[in-house]
Amino acid sequence: MSKRILFVCLGNICRSPSAHAVTRALAPDWQIDSAGTSDWHVGEPPYAPMQQAARARGLEMADLRARQFTVQDFDAFDMIVAMDDSNLARIEALRPAGNTTPVRLLTEFGDGAADHVPDPYYTRDFDGCLDLIETCARGLITHG
Ligand code: 4NP
Repeated sequence: MSKRILFVCLGNICRSPSAHAVTRALAPDWQIDSAGTSDWHVGEPPYAPMQQAARARGLEMADLRARQFTVQDFDAFDMIVAMDDSNLARIEALRPAGNTTPVRLLTEFGDGAADHVPDPYYTRDFDGCLDLIETCARGLITHG
């Protein structure tokens, strides 16, 4: 089975590129992309400390570049996966009439320990972010 999944956070430089890199490594036949609800970092690679924490566990994300979520993404993906409630609300606000693409929280696929992916840009807990994303991504691939 091949799935088209779009991961979305606020800046598209920490959480969603991490989810992108983790999931493409675990499910190489799936089509994975990531985007931000903001345009603040469009064109930039993932945040350097996030890349460093990922690289330390064998995940490469230097090839990724930030882009902003667009209304066309509702048709281009089978599922849109947000990192927190704020991302989810901003995505839902753009949903075209009649569109039924599922928009879910990544933590819905986790072990119940978290109800959102805390933003490491503010918490500075890049490793904890990757741990949570890895747990949830495994759940998404198995049950999503
Ligand atoms: P992200 O984290 O949404 O996980 O990419 C952020 C990165 C940058 C900013 C906010 C969140 N910022 O304010 O620039």
